[in-house]
Amino acid sequence: MPRIGDKAPEFKAVTTQGPIHFPDDYMGSWSILFSHPADFTPVCTSEFMTFATMEEQFADANCKLVGLSIDGLYSHIAWLRTIKEKIEYKGMKDVEVKFPLIEDISMDVATLYGMIQPNEDTTKAVRAVFFVDPEGVIRAVIYYPLSLGRNFDELYRVIIALQAADEFGIATPADWRPGDDVIVPPAGSCGSAESRMAGKEEGVDCKDWFFCTKKISKETVLKAILKK
Ligand code: BEZ
Repeated sequence: MPRIGDKAPEFKAVTTQGPIHFPDDYMGSWSILFSHPADFTPVCTSEFMTFATMEEQFADANCKLVGLSIDGLYSHIAWLRTIKEKIEYKGMKDVEVKFPLIEDISMDVATLYGMIQPNEDTTKAVRAVFFVDPEGVIRAVIYYPLSLGRNFDELYRVIIALQAADEFGIATPADWRPGDDVIVPPAGSCGSAESRMAGKEEGVDCKDWFFCTKKISKETVLKAILKK
């Protein structure tokens, strides 16, 4: 099962947008590879409508979306057409899913990525989410069970937080959003605990020797990340 810090396992697949070679085709962009249990199911439909509606927002953060389920191409095409033509949900309608959806009847890709978790279901992928960076390295992984629809604002928050960490050499605290204080690197990697605690590092606020924060404005974070 691929883990954080691993190179994203390579595969070639057929999708609703033509063939892809992952992660090679996505080098230079962030990508989210995610699985859903099955086409023509309600939770998955609500998820696809939400993700498709947010696709441009992710694209502005240099992030491309790639879906997968253990269904065939014609099922995918029929389901996405039904979503566009018939489904109205929470103010979303006429929703066109433009990102690729991988067909994986063989379960090869789902197995490669540990998306089949047999104690949950032996023939359906769980709701897995792999966040892959522009060098093709897995940077975060989230799994949800079949019954639980994902929070797509959280997936967006993860993409922005990962990029902010890279861009500014910081970490992000609980529930961080752009504009909130960030965590400065642990003492030793950048300045000493003493100089921080004595307030000698400008703009750094230490709650204790191991817990120091600083401000980065929302504008600074977003300017560095969006539409680079
Ligand atoms: C759903 O997407 O609604 C769903 C799929 C598989 C099992 C349970 C729910």
